[in-house]
Amino acid sequence: MRVDVVSIFPEYLAPLDLSLIGKARRDGILDVRVHDLRDFAHDRHRTVDDSPFGGGAGMVMKPEPWAEALAAVAASGPAGDAVVPHLIVPGPGGVPFSQALARALADEPWLAFACGRYEGLDERVYEHAADRMPVTVVSLGDYVLNGGEVAVLAMVEAVARLLPGVVGNAESLVEESHEDGLLEYPVYTRPASWDDAGTVRGVPSVLLSGDHGAIAGWRHAQRLERTAARRPDLLPASATAGALADLDVRVATPADAAELLVLQRACWVREGLGALGRWVVPPLVEELPDVVAGLREWATYVARVRTADGSPGRLVASVRGRVRPVDATFWEVGRLMVAPDLQGRGLGRELLALGESLAPSSATGFWLTTGVLEEGNQRFYQRAGYRLVAGEPTHPGAVDLTKRRR
Ligand code: ADE
Repeated sequence: MRVDVVSIFPEYLAPLDLSLIGKARRDGILDVRVHDLRDFAHDRHRTVDDSPFGGGAGMVMKPEPWAEALAAVAASGPAGDAVVPHLIVPGPGGVPFSQALARALADEPWLAFACGRYEGLDERVYEHAADRMPVTVVSLGDYVLNGGEVAVLAMVEAVARLLPGVVGNAESLVEESHEDGLLEYPVYTRPASWDDAGTVRGVPSVLLSGDHGAIAGWRHAQRLERTAARRPDLLPASATAGALADLDVRVATPADAAELLVLQRACWVREGLGALGRWVVPPLVEELPDVVAGLREWATYVARVRTADGSPGRLVASVRGRVRPVDATFWEVGRLMVAPDLQGRGLGRELLALGESLAPSSATGFWLTTGVLEEGNQRFYQRAGYRLVAGEPTHPGAVDLTKRRR
């Protein structure tokens, strides 16, 4: 990939010589050329800025040096080819930079970055450039930097590391924050028990278990939990869409366990009456510690009605999911429940979609279990694309259903 950067501080871009990006340049994967905007200003002081028409604070970058600089960059492309770079202008008023945008830019053969300083570029620079090449204004975030150089360092690093051969272990690209819309799980290394000046800090025991299915399940649950706590805006769209939009949907914490227990007993009591004396219905025999333990093993979401002031009120629905311990290719959805007064409004369907949307990308199918006597539930899941599994069920008195992931 070819990258050109135009700046009045070319030295600012020196870090692009370091580490993996520097190596990618030396390996010929990345061809970075940095240009000094002042080389295209022809007065004695090599002036690149002037005061704004209409008054106001600060200075504005003059259009002529930019037009010349962009022409010089464009003319230095592959000889005889009509190829032009995609011009990226970093600025706080641009489209937000994201992993998705980094991926899109990594597919382009040639990027040029125009680093503004002062109050920005004369607006006609954008018009001039847009007549000649694709132009995108990109913001690193909702804050103001002194110029585009720091943003270019960030963007070039995020884009270049996606180019084949830049990051040694391609798997590490897949399993990281933002790649599939969730934040990364926590990581640990030796020692397994660290004496931190008297405080002994251990490592979650599942990571030392050697059970790869359990580890994958734990990591995925951690990603969901972190995303819910730190970046709820990234959570699956289904958590905030449709019938669920009126409710407050969050990852359950132990503080929700007592209400979850009450709701699950209420929701499973009919099944329990049918089963009387014949088999055990797990949601009915669980006690509070079992529900708390379930929160550790499953990613559980709870939905609460909003009170008049918008704060979360009564817990009215829930769903949970986990990597199926006996077969990690399945994402298991369970404990789908809706309070009696809110049934019949489509909440069940939305919760099922939410439960499914939590699956890691490695899952190729969904798995769930319901009561053998619960024909209504079975029809509900079949309408959602599930098919009954033949053979021994997971529990006596239950049926298993699966669906291929599309
Ligand atoms: N230049 C100044 N502020 C910026 C921001 N937030 N993102 C990108 N470029 C900038």
